[in-house]
Parts: sequence; C-alpha cells; structure tokens
Amino acid sequence: MAASAPRLKPPPLDPKGSTINKEAARGTLARPLFVVELVLALIRQIEAVETHDLRARVLRPGQPIDAARIASDAEALHFGAFDGERLVGVASLFFNEEDCRLRKFAIEVDQRGKGLGAAMLTHMADHLRQSGHKRLWCDARIEALGVYRRAGFTPFGPRFTKNDRPYQKMELLLGANIPG
Ligand SMILES: CC(C)(COP(=O)(O)OP(=O)(O)OC[C@H]1O[C@@H](n2cnc3c(N)ncnc32)[C@H](O)[C@@H]1OP(=O)(O)O)[C@@H](O)C(=O)NCCC(=O)NCCS
Repeated sequence: MAASAPRLKPPPLDPKGSTINKEAARGTLARPLFVVELVLALIRQIEAVETHDLRARVLRPGQPIDAARIASDAEALHFGAFDGERLVGVASLFFNEEDCRLRKFAIEVDQRGKGLGAAMLTHMADHLRQSGHKRLWCDARIEALGVYRRAGFTPFGPRFTKNDRPYQKMELLLGANIPG
C-alpha cells in the first residue's frame, strides 16, 4: 500500500480490561479442564514496560532486559494474561496500515500447555476484528506452530532463520472464521 495511506490507529486502552469469555476459549473447548483454568485467568491490556521482564526471561534468556525492548513499543498494544495478580503471559501488537504484527509472545514456563497462549491469540484477534483490522501476522518459532495453526493462522513464505532459530511466517485473515 502507498506510504501515504491512512494508518489505522490501535484502539484505546480499555480501562475495565476484559476477561476471557466463551469466544476467547473457542478452540480449547475440546479440553474442558483447560477451560476451567482459563476462566480463572484474565487477559487485559498492559503497558509496554510491564512486558519486558517476561519477554526477557522467556525469549531472551541470559541477555540484558534491554534486549527485550522494541523501539516502537510505545506505539504498540500490549496484552497480559494474569493468574490472579501474577502476570504469566505477554504479547504485543504492532500496527501498519490494515495489517498488524504480533511480536514477543511468551507464556511463563510453568503456565504452558493450559490453553493460555491460544486464549491470548483468540482475544487479540477478536480485539483486532472489532477495530477493523484485516490481518494479523507474525514470525513464528517452529516449535510454536501448533498454537498458531489451531488459532486459524496459515503459513506464508518460506521458512527462514533468525539468530540461528528456524521461523515460519504465519497469518490470520481476520474476516475468516477460526476453526472449531
Ligand atoms: C508458544 C507459547 C506462547 C504457547 O503458549 P501456551 O500457553 O503453552 O499455548 P497453549 O497451551 O495454548 O498450547 C500449547 C501448545 O504450545 C506448545 N508448546 C511449546 N512449548 C511448550 C512448552 N514448553 N510447554 C507446553 N507446551 C508448549 C505445545 O506443543 C502445544 O502445542 P501442540 O498442542 O501443537 O503440541 C509458549 O509455549 C511459549 O511462551 N513458548 C516459548 C516462547 C515462544 O516460543 N513464543 C512464541 C514465539 S513465536
């Protein structure tokens, strides 16, 4: 698209937050125990600075916290998954015209495999649909492809390597239905 095309602004922060609902649990209903755990959790928007510690520990272990910051964090939307007061998951959305890129998606090690990652993807996709965005994409780590596929993402482009790690670009067309 032309550089002069209007940029869709991210929606404003919702001060009331937003709990995981039936929609957010979609895709995990075949796992009833996970759903029980999910309703105890909360996904809401957070500030960029809140994401950095979890990002650093999960995605950049052994590196200084500065490695977890992104220059455009201030313009992005950040989501957190909470277990009570504890922040256990983070993900960030970076906007470019109608597209949105998901980056820095991480769940605490002791909270994985419970459907939280799936719930965060569904929550963010619903949020983006409501604000008129058409596409969500990311550079997915190969070991995380199953989470994205189950949320309705499909691969595009060839696999590639970043920092010695294999990746696949994945996209979710936000007009499309998420598989049940
Ligand atoms: C990828 C990630 C965000 C998924 O979160 P999650 O809450 O565990 O996801 P869900 O419970 O909804 O789904 C579990 C899936 O994650 C996969 N997974 C990846 N690492 C896992 C781990 N350490 N423990 C449990 N599941 C893991 C499982 O294989 C499962 O997929 P499968 O059913 O196809 O096998 C999380 O595992 C994570 O933070 N991984 C490390 C960082 C990372 O890879 N981030 C994504 C970058 S693209």
